[in-house]
Amino acid sequence: MATSNTRDSQVESDRSILDESNLNLQRIGFIGSGAAAGALARALATAGQNVVAVSSRQSSRARELAASISGCSAVHDPQLVVESADLVFLAVPDMAIESVCESLTWSPNLAVVHCSGAHSVDVLSTAARAGALVGGFHPLQTFAGRPDDAERVAGSVIGIEADATLKAALTVLARNIGGRPVYLSAENKPLYHASAVLISNYVVTLAAIAAELWDTFNVSRNEALEALLPLLSGAVANLKQVGLPNALTGPIARGDGATVEDHLESLARNRPQLVPLYQELGYKTVDLALQGGLDSRSADAIRAVLAGSDDDAAVPH
Ligand SMILES: NC(=O)c1ccc[n+]([C@@H]2O[C@H](COP(=O)([O-])OP(=O)(O)OC[C@H]3O[C@@H](n4cnc5c(N)ncnc54)[C@H](OP(=O)(O)O)[C@@H]3O)[C@@H](O)[C@H]2O)c1
Repeated sequence: MATSNTRDSQVESDRSILDESNLNLQRIGFIGSGAAAGALARALATAGQNVVAVSSRQSSRARELAASISGCSAVHDPQLVVESADLVFLAVPDMAIESVCESLTWSPNLAVVHCSGAHSVDVLSTAARAGALVGGFHPLQTFAGRPDDAERVAGSVIGIEADATLKAALTVLARNIGGRPVYLSAENKPLYHASAVLISNYVVTLAAIAAELWDTFNVSRNEALEALLPLLSGAVANLKQVGLPNALTGPIARGDGATVEDHLESLARNRPQLVPLYQELGYKTVDLALQGGLDSRSADAIRAVLAGSDDDAAVPH
C-alpha cells in the first residue's frame, strides 16, 4: 500500500510527465469492438474524449458499440479508423495484434496502442517503421463484454509502455478515465502480466476447484459458488483493509497442523489430483504466516504435515 510520501512522489513524477505532453490526440478510434474496446471506448467517451470511429470483423459488434457513444461511427474497413483518428487502439486479441497492425497503412502524426498486458510494443513495429508513435495501454481489469464494464475502468491501474512523448499523452488519457498509470518496460511486462493472471484468472480457477469439492456432499457447483462468494469477498476486504501478511487467516496462520492433516487425508481419499496443489499453496501460506507472526516451530511442523512426513529435513523451504 502506498504511503502518503510515495503517493506524493508519484503525483510529482506524473506532473513532470504531463508537462512534457504536447501531442494532440483529440480523435480516438478503435479497431476491435470486443470487451476491452467496449470498456475503454465508453469510459473515454464518458470522460469527454472524442471517440470517432470503431470497427470489428462482425459489423454488428461495431454498430452496437458505436450506438452507445455520441458522435461515433461504426466502419467496416479498419483502415477508415486509422484515417479518421489521431490515436488508434488496436483492441484485438493478443495473437492478432501484429498481423492486424501489418495489414494497415500507417503514417507519422498518428499514435497507435494495443491493450495487451503481455506483449511489448514490438508487435507494432510496422506502424513504428512508418513513423507512427507506438505504445501499450493495458487496463489491469477484467471485462466480460457487459455495458457496465466501463465503470470498472476508474480506479484500475493502466499499464503504459511508450516513449516519453506518447507516455505523457497516455498518462493524461489514463488519468482522465480515472485510471492509475503504471509505467512498464518490455522486460517487466511478462511478470506484470503473470501477476495479473495469478490474481484474476487463477482465483477464478481456485473458485471452481473449491466449489467442485461440494459435489462430494451433493451440493451443485453453482450453489457451492454462491455459498463461497461471501468468504471470497471477506478475504478481498481483509486484503484491502489490513493488507499483507495480516489478511491471512485460517489453520496455517493459527499453527493448526492437525486440521491441515485432516484436509490432506480427505483430499487424498476423494480428490487425490488436488493434493499437490493444496501442498504447494500450503507451503506458500506457511511462508506468509511466518511473516504474520507464526512461530518457526509450528511452521516446520506444518511443512512436515504438508510433505506427508515427520522428518523436517525432507520438507521444502
Ligand atoms: N477482456 C479483458 O478483460 C481485457 C482486459 C485487459 C486487456 N485486454 C486486452 O484487450 C485486447 C482485446 O481483448 P478483448 O478481451 O477485448 O477481446 P474480444 O472481446 O474477443 O474482442 C476482440 C475484438 O477483436 C476482433 N478480432 C478478433 N480477432 C481478430 C482478427 N484476427 N483480426 C481482426 N480483428 C479481430 C473481434 O472482432 P469480431 O468479434 O467482430 O470477430 C473483436 O471486435 C487484448 O489485447 C487483451 O489482452 C482484455
